[in-house]
Amino acid sequence: MRYIAQAPGKVILVGEHFVVHGGYAIAASITEGVRAEARKLASNRIRIISEDLGLTAEIPNRIPRELSPLAQCVTAIVKRCKYSGGLELRLKSMIPPSAGLGSSAATAVSGVAATSSALGRRLSSAEIVELAMISEKAIHGNPSGIDVHTSTYGGIILFRKGPKIIRNSIEPSKPLQLIVAYDEGRRQTAELISKVDGFRRSAPSHFSALLTANNVMVEKVTNLIKLGRTADIGAYLNFYQAILSNMNLSNPEIDSLVESSLDGGAFGAKLTGAGGRGSIIALSPDNKFKKIGKSLSRISERVIEVTLPAPGVRVWIEKT
Ligand code: PMV
Repeated sequence: MRYIAQAPGKVILVGEHFVVHGGYAIAASITEGVRAEARKLASNRIRIISEDLGLTAEIPNRIPRELSPLAQCVTAIVKRCKYSGGLELRLKSMIPPSAGLGSSAATAVSGVAATSSALGRRLSSAEIVELAMISEKAIHGNPSGIDVHTSTYGGIILFRKGPKIIRNSIEPSKPLQLIVAYDEGRRQTAELISKVDGFRRSAPSHFSALLTANNVMVEKVTNLIKLGRTADIGAYLNFYQAILSNMNLSNPEIDSLVESSLDGGAFGAKLTGAGGRGSIIALSPDNKFKKIGKSLSRISERVIEVTLPAPGVRVWIEKT
């Protein structure tokens, strides 16, 4: 038997970075993600294979640095299931790493779901989140958890971290047509989080005022999604791009992807995720969706067209 899980990547519509500091954000799962396949082995070896990185980990003896966060998750599941046999977990990603699209969270969520399924334990969504967060914390230091929640539950979600996490599903009255364009340059989320933290420390009152403004705007955008007022949502995306740019999170490559989207008739466009390269999202009128996607693909490494809402993690079993 092969135990398979597919977990989606995510985009943040509004509120990235503020969400790290206790503010609200809205994220959505996308159609592309990471596929994980687990099977029990006759030996007692535990092996993780990343097809994209071309790396293999043998737990506990030989764990490449890049696979260590996931190895920590797998070790925790094996322990929770009191399993002492062998296991192989193989991962293949459809989304680029370090691009603001939540590939590390989708890797952890799919890995946790496939491994536990192979060990005969059907985890609740809350347990998947808890175990996948082991990897996210190891990678990002102080993540809000929005990526893992979005990849697990799917849909469009209003999120706030804290002792009592808020995660409300937002039901749009009509689907949102979103174009994701990826700028090839890589960057580390942890570095960008600490850059924003530097700004917060140097101007605490200004940052706190922006956090309050963010929460007001996130509430407005939540209502606009429910009402299907796509053009107005686009206006907020444009405003967020200006704010994030002002916090030195944009760059000329992201700016030109945003410019091209708006030039093609998008309602709004902004960087998504940590910024500093990475990806942009453009919200498009139905009749301009294809045209904008085409013009972005001339200057972007990769363009993904998504209709929101999209599902969260899925788990199934295939006979070998
Ligand atoms: O790692 P990224 O680029 O998908 O960004 C995640 C969004 C942040 O708000 C910057 C960090 C977080 O943990 O919420």
